[in-house]
Amino acid sequence: MDRRDFLRTTMLAGAAMTLAPRATSAADARVDVLLDEPIARIDPNVYGHFVEHLGGVVYDGIWVGEGSRIPNTGGIRQAIVDHMRHLPKGVIRWPGGCFADSYDWRDGIGPREARPRRTNFWTPEMAARPDGPWKYDPNHFGTNEFVRFVRLCGGEPYLAANLRSLPARDFYQWVEYANSPAGSTTLAEMRAKGGSAEPLRVRFWGVGNESWGCGGNLTADEYAVEYRKFTAWLPTYGEPLSFIGSGPNGNDLSWTRRFFTTLTAKGEGALNSIWGWALHHYTWNASRGATTDWNAGKGDALVYTTDEWYEILAQAAFIETLITGHWAVMGEIDRRHRVKIVVDEWGTWHKPGTEIHPSHHLGQQSTIRDALVAALTLDTFHRHADKVAMANIAQLVNCLQSLFLTDGERFLLTPTYHVFALYAPHAGGEAVRTQLGAPRIGYDRVNDRGSVAGLAGSASVRDRTVTLTLVNPHATDATDATITLRGGRAASARAVTIAAGEIHAHNTFDRPAVVAPSAESAVPVGPGASFTHRLPPASVTRLTVALG
Ligand code: AHR
Repeated sequence: MDRRDFLRTTMLAGAAMTLAPRATSAADARVDVLLDEPIARIDPNVYGHFVEHLGGVVYDGIWVGEGSRIPNTGGIRQAIVDHMRHLPKGVIRWPGGCFADSYDWRDGIGPREARPRRTNFWTPEMAARPDGPWKYDPNHFGTNEFVRFVRLCGGEPYLAANLRSLPARDFYQWVEYANSPAGSTTLAEMRAKGGSAEPLRVRFWGVGNESWGCGGNLTADEYAVEYRKFTAWLPTYGEPLSFIGSGPNGNDLSWTRRFFTTLTAKGEGALNSIWGWALHHYTWNASRGATTDWNAGKGDALVYTTDEWYEILAQAAFIETLITGHWAVMGEIDRRHRVKIVVDEWGTWHKPGTEIHPSHHLGQQSTIRDALVAALTLDTFHRHADKVAMANIAQLVNCLQSLFLTDGERFLLTPTYHVFALYAPHAGGEAVRTQLGAPRIGYDRVNDRGSVAGLAGSASVRDRTVTLTLVNPHATDATDATITLRGGRAASARAVTIAAGEIHAHNTFDRPAVVAPSAESAVPVGPGASFTHRLPPASVTRLTVALG
């Protein structure tokens, strides 16, 4: 156990003494699965990921280099690839985030040793930290390496273009580098020298990132004009291109309205140039008051009160308001709703202090609380499968709500990884409407009271099998859920649960399986229309129900 693990374990023990929840009683809840009310197919891309050149995501996380002692495929950490293959095959977004709007894709191509070393966008944030190679980007992980990584994982690449500091021409040429046919252009030949004679077939392209902020500090009208320019008359090389626009700051509905109005100022045909509209939603303890201070309002990843547990869950549930609010505004102009929502950054954002290594800027530990945030959020995407076509949790490894934590040779799966694996059968299934009834749970915020739904979840159907996922957010009480299938009958059911029995539980390199799924067990369903299942406190459960 190194010093940081020791500190973390000590903090956990301290927190557990005062805050450990006790399962006191079981409340009743109702779950109605309406099999005859389909919503839409759940796009596997809502199980997408995000990889930015930030802290330990790329270097130390994914890219260990070909000569490394760490098992790798051509420099890419093998353990990540192996575990990604158990998850839905969603998109992976790269190279940012804010980094994208300072990135020149030409820096990351050609022989690795000849690539330029650049100051990373995030360096000023890290100025107070010990110097080290992470401070400068060696560009060893560029377009070819990224696409190779994505294909090894079985997913699809999603590249975010630099709209703030490069002209549209560089964007066109990046598309040409990626997609022009083998041997056709000088850029295709350069790509071949990087190991990919065949086109990389990149379909998803982000046009800037957070253009209201780090991506150029533009107004929505200014951004819409840039967007039109960037997406006009691009050669497609036979690959359908799906462009994703940089959406609002949180609940700023006027950004969405102004963008779509100005985009279509020359005619509604401009709607053909946009496939997805990006929303970002980070979750932190806003009851402490978010201010201009980068870390104000954020709480600790490991040490929190029961009220802070609920506050984070309430913040996560707010994603539903963002989706329905922006969707309604988009429909004012895009009346047939051709453009879908892409939540291309989401997850918990805790204050610094629990990162695995000082170089892992914005790195944080991840507990059962983060697992519930992941489950609540994925359930929301399923319930809005007609609106949300893609989502990318931030970020894949060593940053914010990661699925993996690494430190050199050490590697672990976070509770969030286990939720992604648990929820995998939803991907590609038909989401059906679900009605949940449970008393809301009240809690204290700093200046007022808040509340969260007493039960959350979603259902989907594929091949006469229902996947029903349920989150019991109660910190101390189990819930007995009565589950009714409307329009069908359960022949048999099985359940798997992620429940640690303690709201601060998390995995460390020394104790990597504190939070992990239970073994799958049979659930008695009886001959009637309903059956009952007990959901432990602070838990996520997947029920797999075979229809009779
Ligand atoms: O994910 C970290 C940062 O959060 C991203 O770079 C930016 O887009 C967002 O503000």
